[in-house]
Amino acid sequence: MTTSSSTAAEKNFKTEVLKKIFLIIFMISLIFALFLYLNKEKNNTYILKTFELNGSANRGNSLFKINCVGCHGITARGLVGPDLHLITERLNDKEIIKQVIEGRTPPMPSFEIDPQNMSDLLEYLHSL
Ligand code: HEC
Repeated sequence: MTTSSSTAAEKNFKTEVLKKIFLIIFMISLIFALFLYLNKEKNNTYILKTFELNGSANRGNSLFKINCVGCHGITARGLVGPDLHLITERLNDKEIIKQVIEGRTPPMPSFEIDPQNMSDLLEYLHSL
């Protein structure tokens, strides 16, 4: 009798602990999802702003020389990073922006550039 009731209490305790663990995991996932969502919204605002601007291929070329030639080569023909000629036929502008600002494919770093500079860079890539 004593033994069986203590087993029941133990079971109860285990269930409570499991419930708490589940709750914690659930909350962490929720926070993570929220973070991803906010980050996506931030990027979307950035992309929309970039599309509103008129880029200059000339200024984009200068920016490219400062930030990108080390890996993509002085004429964007590729070095460590791939050749970027015709990149605008393979990727749309949104994908290119994400490639530049998100840093998802190391060793290429993420760049913190303002929408005007991003717009200039895009114009330059379109001119290749
Ligand atoms: C440290 C080296 C490095 C620098 C600096 C760098 N990149 Fe890259 N980039 C890479 C590498 C490596 C890849 C290939 C990544 C992969 O897909 O695995 C890449 C991929 C890309 C792609 C996609 C190419 C494709 O074929 O999918 C674009 C667009 C691009 N880079 C643009 C830029 C621009 C614009 C800059 C400057 C603002 C820049 N990169 C700076 C290394 C670099």
